[in-house]
Amino acid sequence: MVQGQGFGLLHVMANSGEGVGDANPLPTHDATAMLAEHWGKVYENNATARTREWHCEYHDVQGFIARFCESASHPEGTVLDVGCGGSCFGERVLGDFGLGHLFLTDIDPGIVEILKARYETALHEGAPKSVTCEVMDCTDMKSIASNSCAVVLDKGTLDALHGEKDKMRMLLECGRVLAASGVFVSVSFASAKRVPVLMEAAKRMRLQLRIKVLGQGDPRFGHTVYFVAVLGKDLGTAGTGTGCLGTGSGMDFDNDDLAYASEDELTQTVLTRVHRASSVIEYDPPSKEDELTLFDESDGEYP
Ligand SMILES: C[S@@+](CC[C@H](N)C(=O)[O-])C[C@H]1O[C@@H](n2cnc3c(N)ncnc32)[C@H](O)[C@@H]1O
Repeated sequence: MVQGQGFGLLHVMANSGEGVGDANPLPTHDATAMLAEHWGKVYENNATARTREWHCEYHDVQGFIARFCESASHPEGTVLDVGCGGSCFGERVLGDFGLGHLFLTDIDPGIVEILKARYETALHEGAPKSVTCEVMDCTDMKSIASNSCAVVLDKGTLDALHGEKDKMRMLLECGRVLAASGVFVSVSFASAKRVPVLMEAAKRMRLQLRIKVLGQGDPRFGHTVYFVAVLGKDLGTAGTGTGCLGTGSGMDFDNDDLAYASEDELTQTVLTRVHRASSVIEYDPPSKEDELTLFDESDGEYP
């Protein structure tokens, strides 16, 4: 089952497009503990959450990420899924691209126990032979060696973190554990604020960034869309094949040099708006006239 928005706390985060408390950040450890407790309750109280795929199914993004995963994968390679929940995303990437080891991590011990049981008894065809399931905070993955993972995955976990600092910590940690020839795939809410964070992280890690917008249609007309970001040292040429928007490493978000070389209309439309208006739905930045007022000047003319 695909689910774009979660329960309770995540739902609040989803609607704001950002982590809870962005406006008034809590100390990181308090927020992390609060979020961990929240996710514990989600997985404990709702059986469907234990097999839920947030944002999308693997096959929805497979066409876009395949060429990047293919070039990063090898039989001894590890695929790491951070904040994996009950998702099969990691297993599907491992199977499709012939990687050797599946490393599943989540902050909630309950879902990690469920995953351990799932893979201990995994008898289905193509089930991974080598799997590790561990409780881990994706903003601090010190038990994972630097430069050790061929493919790193995040689906919905960046969205679930508290504030910009934790998001940046997580992205930098994913970059640290990524092998030199590896790729990091991050699927997240199509929040305009997400783009500069991804661009800043790519710049700091000296990685290239490619973003594709996926969904049923233009969010301006009410369609739900999500971002698929790919980060890696050498992502090839932008704008070829399946259509994508390429943003070379080191480019500033407000730099007009952004390469709008997409054959994909949805990606081009949405990211152009993000660039111009910091919005996925508006063409222009908000002006003074857009400000909400209870009364306008004509109100004075009425008795
Ligand atoms: C929206 S769900 C996504 C689950 C799964 N990746 C998917 O695509 O279906 C977010 C997941 O992030 C996990 N999470 C939240 N904060 C985390 C953290 N600091 N470190 C690791 N996992 C975290 C939650 O427990 C939850 O499983």
